[in-house]
Amino acid sequence: PVPVITIDGPSGTGKGTIAELLSDRLGWRCLDSGALYRVLGLAAERRGVSLDDADAVAEVAADLPVDFVSGRVLLDGEDVSEAIRTEQAGMAASRVAVHPPVRDALLQRQRAMACPPGLVADGRDMGTVVFPLAPLKIFLDASAEVRADRRYKQLKGKGLDANLPDLVEDIRARDARDRGRSVAPLCAADDAVIVDSTVMSIEAVLDRVLKEVRR
Ligand code: CDP
Repeated sequence: PVPVITIDGPSGTGKGTIAELLSDRLGWRCLDSGALYRVLGLAAERRGVSLDDADAVAEVAADLPVDFVSGRVLLDGEDVSEAIRTEQAGMAASRVAVHPPVRDALLQRQRAMACPPGLVADGRDMGTVVFPLAPLKIFLDASAEVRADRRYKQLKGKGLDANLPDLVEDIRARDARDRGRSVAPLCAADDAVIVDSTVMSIEAVLDRVLKEVRR
């Protein structure tokens, strides 16, 4: 079997950054499953499909024309890498992600990303649902305040408008929806290594994860 390392956790813990650094280090592919849900939210909105209509969104998911090309995310050939990173797109992603048929429609697409020499997969349910047999599972957590503050700096760094109290509220709302949903709720797999990054730098987290890889 193709080796898979899963990195799950709530929004803003640095999962994406760690997954990218780790996959670079190992020379493995990287699956940003959140980007899939984000693109789906965007595609559904653009087609005028209600995000609460499970079957209609699942239909969009079934033949979602998404491509990941050299770090860019393409929807129907259009570069939507920036468009999917807004708070609104994150919220839309978490709304479409609550529907079981939508998650089913994206399952095979995610599993198909596992090819030699290996895959680093980041998301909410990589270790619990998509790759339950992965030999190394990381669950990355951090306090909501620290996560909102990181997002704030990230947005400011990109010259975007941001408001810290709003971000804390957004993060709490998204956490509640991700943890409270009936299908694939956000939680650590039984065999996951839990890393709390509240007071850790990205380098420290990467070191910690690499230590697990070498075990
Ligand atoms: O970047 P951030 O961690 O804020 O979000 P993301 O990983 O891009 O995911 C956006 C949303 O997609 C999450 O709030 C989840 O609701 C959903 N998602 C999911 O349900 N399952 C995944 N494997 C990945 C994301």
